[in-house]
Amino acid sequence: MGTSWKSSDVTEKFNDYNDMLEDILGFQVLFDEIKESSQVHHILDYGCGPGKVAERLAGLNENYQIVAVDESKSMVDIAKNDRHKENIDYRLITNDNLSFLEDNSMDIVIICFVIINISSEERIRNVIKEIYRVLKPSGKLLILDSNPNAIGYEFSTFRNGVKGKTYKNGDKKQQFLHILNRPDLVLDDYYWTREFYMSVLEEARFSEIGTCEPTIETLTARKVEQAKQKYNVTKWGDEKGQAPFIIFKAKKTDI
Ligand SMILES: C[S@@+](CC[C@H](N)C(=O)[O-])C[C@H]1O[C@@H](n2cnc3c(N)ncnc32)[C@H](O)[C@@H]1O
Repeated sequence: MGTSWKSSDVTEKFNDYNDMLEDILGFQVLFDEIKESSQVHHILDYGCGPGKVAERLAGLNENYQIVAVDESKSMVDIAKNDRHKENIDYRLITNDNLSFLEDNSMDIVIICFVIINISSEERIRNVIKEIYRVLKPSGKLLILDSNPNAIGYEFSTFRNGVKGKTYKNGDKKQQFLHILNRPDLVLDDYYWTREFYMSVLEEARFSEIGTCEPTIETLTARKVEQAKQKYNVTKWGDEKGQAPFIIFKAKKTDI
């Protein structure tokens, strides 16, 4: 069994988690990619959780029309209550079903920290195929996940897996999120290799597949300064030189 994302205890704790590293080394990298893409209007946030990513994205440009979906009712409830925005449509989905979205209707799809929560290869393939269907030709998919090559590192806000342990594709893996003045929120994730993500994207017929693994050292000095001020950071953890996350970028083949 993976993490109980439908339990209010888990969703509330996740909502309280300070996602500063995810923001600095993940979401902002995705947002730069989105800002660089021309004529972006319709964006799907798949597995939006409590709306922390969608809310930030919606604030960047009022012309973005965001559909943010999740299979956990308590997550969608928090998102609707705490992170309501005119240009976000939060929706509860079941069985990975996006049938309310037309073929070729989305300019961009983002999927942040969701694949690591899916236990079966087959289900991941189906989610990616459904995302391919709803993307417009030349539309972009951006996947953000924990870095499978960063096991056991002590990042400022979390630890990914057990130090020294070797994981195989599909193995269960715990993620330890540090929450201020409370015990860690321990998530029961799954370990998927970089090669597995690549094979799923290729099989779904994505093209121009690339990856990036940002660290504090790969950011510009200006971005590091902005991040320090925004989050009141005085000292970095292992994220200084080791990438906590991996980002996959892929394009829907023109038809
Ligand atoms: C770690 S949270 C990430 C939330 C958000 N994307 C973020 O980065 O803050 C993972 C979320 O993915 C959702 N999720 C997992 N598998 C899903 C699936 N197959 N379909 C829709 N949502 C899913 C969970 O309910 C949970 O809200």
